[in-house]
Amino acid sequence: MSGLQGSGFRGQVTLDGPSGTGKSSVARAVAARLGAAYLDTGAMYRAATVAVLDAGIDPEDAEAVAGVVAGARIDVGTEAGTEIVRVDDVDVAVRIRGAEVTRAVSAVSAVPAVRRQLVDQQRDLVAAADAVVVEGRDIGTVVLPGATCKIYLTAAPEARAQRRAGQLGVTDAAEIAAIAADLRRRDTYDSSREDSPLRPAADAVVVDSTELDRDQVVDRVVALAQAAVGVSR
Ligand code: DC
Repeated sequence: MSGLQGSGFRGQVTLDGPSGTGKSSVARAVAARLGAAYLDTGAMYRAATVAVLDAGIDPEDAEAVAGVVAGARIDVGTEAGTEIVRVDDVDVAVRIRGAEVTRAVSAVSAVPAVRRQLVDQQRDLVAAADAVVVEGRDIGTVVLPGATCKIYLTAAPEARAQRRAGQLGVTDAAEIAAIAADLRRRDTYDSSREDSPLRPAADAVVVDSTELDRDQVVDRVVALAQAAVGVSR
């Protein structure tokens, strides 16, 4: 990870919430504004899923999944200003966003041994940074319970489906309905798994982005982060 220092912010901002809330784009912008590093933990679960798919095993076979991921070297971070995602030194930054990985990632990320391994790695990466924005599902609840500032970003399901459709360039109503159904499927899977389910931490600030544009959300999160460390604006 890397990040220009100098905004005065020191600490960790956690950004959790379901898919399609604009979380990644908000997290990147907040990191840039705070001069903080950025860690996308979803990219780590997606990279682990690439390893599972390439090994030819069933993503629902928890034991086999745990074995494959234990043997995989997953690198996620920023090098020379560029986000990198590698599995065993192979660049998978584009592949992790594909439909095959998106379909299988909930099952892989529900495996407790996979979570333990990646959470350990996430804590090591965070410990190496003075200031960091960490995006995921369980960052405020499990990975960094003592974080400086915790945000839970949410939005109405229809707004999330519309936003995702816009990113994919989809305008057909049936396709948008299919995107909404997939978001609901992943929400249910992520919120109901036994290990580290998706939910806001008790001390998280819930930000609903349904009626806000990206810049308004970014302003809100930056202000909350600065208030948490007493930095004047
Ligand atoms: O944010 P994303 O869509 O890239 O995340 C991919 C999947 O990884 C998502 O289905 C939930 C899971 N995930 C998780 O379980 N814990 C995290 N900290 C981050 C992502």
